Amino acid sequence: MSITGTEDEVAQMIVRAEAASTRPAAIEINLSCPNISGHPPPCYDAAQMTSYMTTVSAAAKTIPVGLKLAPFLYDQQFHVVANAIRSCSAIRFVIAINTIGNGLMVDVDKDVFSLSPGGPFGGLGGKAVHSLALGNVLRLRQVLPSRVDIIGCGGVDSGEAAYRFLACGASAVEVATQLLIEGPSVFARINRELMQIMQRKGFSSIQDIHRRWHKSAQPALTARL
Ligand SMILES: Cc1cc2nc3c(=O)[nH]c(=O)nc-3n(C[C@H](O)[C@H](O)[C@H](O)COP(=O)(O)O)c2cc1C
Repeated sequence: MSITGTEDEVAQMIVRAEAASTRPAAIEINLSCPNISGHPPPCYDAAQMTSYMTTVSAAAKTIPVGLKLAPFLYDQQFHVVANAIRSCSAIRFVIAINTIGNGLMVDVDKDVFSLSPGGPFGGLGGKAVHSLALGNVLRLRQVLPSRVDIIGCGGVDSGEAAYRFLACGASAVEVATQLLIEGPSVFARINRELMQIMQRKGFSSIQDIHRRWHKSAQPALTARL
């Protein structure tokens, strides 16, 4: 279940979900949408993050809670989120990244702005954000506690792209733009391609991939912190 709102609204939704007869397997709180006018994404702001985490700590009981994160461009942003998450044991996963706000594209043939139907500005996703998303996932893996799983998102259009996220420490991947382009059959194709890559490399689980990559990734982490 994906939710967003003020701290109080989010808390109310979590309490209702905890009490519901059909409970969601997990709750994603979207603190990163770049398209809500007058509301900067809360995950960029330390005070707001602290306030959300205090509220979530009081409301969440047993359902795992995750945060959808905006793209981060400099190191302090990763620490703002990591510090807030460290104070809230209910947070069990993050999804990185949401779109980059204020993208624009011009269709030269039709002479119109073409990125977003509501245009002219829109969230940028797909191949254009893949590299930034990979960097965000590795940096988050370095600063977040190990109880927090990472779902990698941004430009997953193939088994190779999915493998890159797993190599950076993600435990799963999410697909948006390519789902829009290809439809639901995209999941079976990407899964098939990923399995082929893993077989070729002799990996039988995602943990195998993490073990291979984290040997080299972790020392860099400790050095930088
Ligand atoms: C059509 C479309 C709708 C989206 N709607 C949401 C949304 O409601 N909430 C959200 O957190 N992210 C939303 N996203 C962002 C995606 O979940 C994802 O974070 C981003 O597009 C990067 O992944 P991608 O490169 O696979 O598109 C949307 C993306 C697309 C393309």
